[in-house]
Amino acid sequence: MRDWFDGPHGAARAERFTAEACGLTLDYAKNRITDETLALLFALAAQARVAERRDSMYAGEPVNVTEHRAALHIALRAYPEDGYRALGVPVGAQVAEVLAQMARFAEAVRSGAWTGFDGRAITDVVNIGIGGSDLGPRMVCRALATAQAGTHNTGPRMHFVANVDGSDLARTLSGLDAAATLVIVCSKTFTTLETMANARTARDWFLHQGVSRAGLARHFVAVSTNREAVAGFGIDPANMFPFWDWVGGRFSLWSAVGLSIAVAIGFDRFRQLLDGARAMDLHFASAPPPRNLPMILGLLDVWYRSFLGAGSRCVAPYCEPLELLPSFLQQLEMESNGKSVRLDGGALAADSAAVVWGTTGTNGQHAYFQMMHQGSQLVPVDFIATLAPVSDLPGHHTKLLANCFAQGEALLRGRSADEVRAEGVRDETLVPHLVFAGNRPSNTLLLQRLDPYHLGALLALCEHRTFVQGALWQINSFDQWGVELGKKLAAPIQQELEGTPAAAAHDASTAALIRRARAARATVPY
Ligand code: F6P
Repeated sequence: MRDWFDGPHGAARAERFTAEACGLTLDYAKNRITDETLALLFALAAQARVAERRDSMYAGEPVNVTEHRAALHIALRAYPEDGYRALGVPVGAQVAEVLAQMARFAEAVRSGAWTGFDGRAITDVVNIGIGGSDLGPRMVCRALATAQAGTHNTGPRMHFVANVDGSDLARTLSGLDAAATLVIVCSKTFTTLETMANARTARDWFLHQGVSRAGLARHFVAVSTNREAVAGFGIDPANMFPFWDWVGGRFSLWSAVGLSIAVAIGFDRFRQLLDGARAMDLHFASAPPPRNLPMILGLLDVWYRSFLGAGSRCVAPYCEPLELLPSFLQQLEMESNGKSVRLDGGALAADSAAVVWGTTGTNGQHAYFQMMHQGSQLVPVDFIATLAPVSDLPGHHTKLLANCFAQGEALLRGRSADEVRAEGVRDETLVPHLVFAGNRPSNTLLLQRLDPYHLGALLALCEHRTFVQGALWQINSFDQWGVELGKKLAAPIQQELEGTPAAAAHDASTAALIRRARAARATVPY
C-alpha cells in the first residue's frame, strides 16, 4: 500500500477511494485494494446478486427463510407514504401508530405528567432486556445522552439491566427511589430467561419498597410482540408498546425497543435518529456500487475475512460516547453472520463472520494496538471519529483526531530498518524490534458530528454492511439458531443445581461442575 501511495497515482488514490453519504465520509484508501480488486469485488457482488437480495429485503419478502419472515427494519424509520409491506401486508400505518404512542409516553414521562403511584414524577427509568432488547438502546442512550450535554435535557436518568447475575439488577436498584422509578420490560418474545427473572425480581422490589400492587401499573410498561405474555406478567396491555415478527432483535432499536431512547432524549430527537437511518436506507437502495457505503464496507469485510484470512476486525471509535458501539456490533455482525450453512442448506465453503472487537481510542492505543502494529495477525481496523468535537473542553479534539489519523498512517506506512537507522539508532540488535512492517489496512469513517441524525445514518450503515456480508456469503443473516442449544441445556442443569436429580446424562466434565456447584450451594445456601 505504501508503494501505491508513494507512486504516481498516490494523490488520486485518496480521492478515488473516498465516498460520502448522509453526512458520513468513508476514506477506504488505506486498504489492500486496487481498481482491479474493487472491480472484481463488485463482480462478486453482482454474481452473488447482492442488489437483488437487498431489493427482496426492501420489498418485505421472506428473506429470513428459516423462520419465513421478512426483515423489514427499514420500515421502522420510514414514513407511511414510503409504502413498505411485510409479506405483502402494508406496515406504515401500524409503525406510525406505535411511534405516536411512544411520542405521547416519552413526553408524558419527561414532562412529569406520567407519575408514579404516589403522584411523584419519574426521575429514573430502568430498561430490563438483553441482546437486541438492550445493546442498541443502551449504546444509543450512552452516545446521545452525552452528546446533548450543553443542550437542555429534561429527561430522567436511564439505567440498563441485562444480566441474570443478580448483581446487575441489585446494583442498579440500590440507588433508586421506587416511587420515582419506571421499568420498561423489553423483550420481543417476553419469554427470555434473563429478562423475565429480572422483571419478576424488580416487581418484588417495588412491592417491598411500599408500592401497592395496584400502583405497579404506574411503574411497569412493556415492549414486546407477545401480548398474551405481557398480560400474563400483569402489565396492562394499554401500557404495552408492540412491534412485529419482521423486526429482528438486533435490528430493533428503531422500533418500540427504542422507547428508552425516546424517553432519554425526547421523541423529536428520536425521530432525527430514524431520519438519519432512513437517509442511509435510501442511499443503500440507490447509490451505484462504487459510491455505496454499505456495499463497499461489506465487500471489504469479505475480502479480508474470506480471501485474506483475517479472523477479526477492530472497531476503534475515537469518540468516547460511542464506547458501546463495539458491543452492539458484536451482536449485529456475529449473531447475523456467524453461520456455516448457506441459505440452501449446503455447507459454506468460505470463512464467515470475523470476530468484531475494540474499544475507544485513544485508550486502545495504550493496550492492544501494539499487536495491531507489530503482531503476527492481520487485523483490519475501522477508525470512527467526528469532525465536530463532542466535548467543548478546549484542546482535546485536535489531540484526539491527530491520534486517530496517526494510527491509520502508522499502520499503513510502517517503518523500515533503513528508516530506523536514519532516525539515529546505532544498536543493530535493536533495529528489528523497531521495524513496523506496515501494509496494515484501515477504514476511516468521519461523522460531521455526533447527533441523532448522523448516529442513525451510521447505525443503518452498519446494519446494511452486515447484510451485504451475509448476501455475499449466501447465508441467512436474520436467524440465530446457534443461541438455542445452550438455552435448552441450561433448564435441566438449573433444576439439578436446585436439588432435582439429574434427568439427563452429562459429559463427565459438566457433571463434575454441577456437583461442585451443588456442594458449594449446600455450604453457603443461595
Ligand atoms: O438469545 C438471543 C436472542 O434471541 C437475541 O437474538 C435477542 O436479541 C435476545 O435473545 C433477546 O430476545 P428477546 O427480545 O425476545 O428477549
